[in-house]
Amino acid sequence: MKITKICCIGAGYVGGPTMAIIAQKCPQIQVTVVDLNEERIAAWNDADVNNIPIYEPGLSEIVKEARGRNLFFSTAVDQAIDEAEMIFISVNTPTKTYGKGKGMAADLKYIELCARQIARVSKSNKIVVEKSTLPVRTAEAIKSILDNTGNGVKFQILSNPEFLAEGTAVQDLLHPDRILIGGDTTAEGQKAIQALVDVYANWVAVDKILTTNVWSSELSKLTANAFLAQRISSINAMSELCEKTGADVNEVARAIGMDSRIGPKFLKASVGFGGSCFQKDILNLVYIAKSYGLQEVADYWEQVIIMNDHQKRRFSDTIVKTLYNTVSDKKIAFLGWAFKKDTNDTRESAAIYVADDLINENAKIAVYDPKVSRKKVLADLDYLQTRTADENAKSILSFENPYEACSNAHAVAILTEWDEFVAYDWQKIYDAMQKPAFVFDGRNILDKAVLEKIGFVYQAIGS
Ligand code: NAD
Ligand code: UGA
Repeated sequence: MKITKICCIGAGYVGGPTMAIIAQKCPQIQVTVVDLNEERIAAWNDADVNNIPIYEPGLSEIVKEARGRNLFFSTAVDQAIDEAEMIFISVNTPTKTYGKGKGMAADLKYIELCARQIARVSKSNKIVVEKSTLPVRTAEAIKSILDNTGNGVKFQILSNPEFLAEGTAVQDLLHPDRILIGGDTTAEGQKAIQALVDVYANWVAVDKILTTNVWSSELSKLTANAFLAQRISSINAMSELCEKTGADVNEVARAIGMDSRIGPKFLKASVGFGGSCFQKDILNLVYIAKSYGLQEVADYWEQVIIMNDHQKRRFSDTIVKTLYNTVSDKKIAFLGWAFKKDTNDTRESAAIYVADDLINENAKIAVYDPKVSRKKVLADLDYLQTRTADENAKSILSFENPYEACSNAHAVAILTEWDEFVAYDWQKIYDAMQKPAFVFDGRNILDKAVLEKIGFVYQAIGS
């Protein structure tokens, strides 16, 4: 089956970039990305391509090339579903905030709504691709909705999880380590798999395209995120031990990373991992394990989250303790609010939790992030519901200029590893700060020797 029209439901951090690359690499396929969020779609269609809603290095150039040619953004969901032979579901799957599984299970209401909408609208056979990260066996529920329309339309369901990381989405999509496609073992299922393999084969070597059964594919995505997050919690656990023993976590990471069985990546100690997925996916995994009665499996993975929460709390505790046990009315400058560099995404960013702790201690937080607005910072804090929006607004000072954010501050805390922070004139920052001037480097990006020579009291993670 040759695909000529693709529809993607969900124009977010995954749907937008993924479809932009498919459109760029497959000019023969018409790709329409749809979303209920009119504001988001309007931003994707903004005449100035720099205003697209997601910041990713290299993305605006690709959108510029393909948009209007074979890449379209629209709110006409029904029409796009009806016309397409292949439909990607790339909607959000957040942690449930209500009912059974609250705080753990993935909320699948958006997925189910998509399935019902596809079932209602489709007049011809379709391949439905799960792009969102889903609990293992979700395809079963989608299938049950799609197979019971009674209108004779046939659906094949594939699982094709996405492994891109934000900040490097374009490079990850152009040069993926692997593409994973899970499908039915029947002849029809295999044909559907082949149709999707053919799409990716436009730019990905076929030996990097793995095909499996649906359940392996769904579970591999949760497993990959659990393993990645586990590495961070493991090195962060060691960072605390390093601080007590005189070992240096950067040296330890280097030493173990040279063991080819361990490898050097994802061993950077930090203030704690953030992002929309690691925590949500591990909690989901824990929930699934518990629902099968596998308590030890659940406890094992839950520890990754417990360690991460501890690491964030430890960072704010260290700031308070070092600043003579009080930060009341002190100005603490936050360099960075995004959960990692090169993205404007702040979901589950460690900065939110560290700020929340420090505001509880009456600190004033002066935030500078090159890509995050004051509105977003306040929305992130309000979402926690620790205090009123008014109180949050009074505790957060926002700056467009990092030097102003740091001016007169008692301490600077690095929350995101933006490259530009390293290049700042740290002497100038020191001169304008309260003394003693403290730097808490939650990302271990600055040079301790240089900062101490200037006069800073410098504290990193894990040394
Ligand atoms: P997102 O919140 O940025 O985007 C989801 C979009 O779906 C939103 O714009 C929302 O309005 C839209 N939507 C929801 N229900 C809809 C419906 N019924 N019809 C039309 N539009 C609808 O989310 P995201 O970060 O793109 O994540 C999407 C999925 O991909 C999640 O399951 C996530 O776990 C997974 N994932 C995310 C990343 C990442 O880096 N963000 C990476 C890999 C996988
Ligand atoms: C992560 C995975 O890397 C992707 O493969 C996956 O597709 C995605 O989740 C997802 O499913 O959403 P992402 O969260 O975008 O991608 O970014 P990462 O680079 O994994 O970073 C996550 C967090 O861990 C960030 O806060 C980062 O600063 C932190 N981190 C990462 C560390 O603290 N140390 C490290 O060594 C690496």
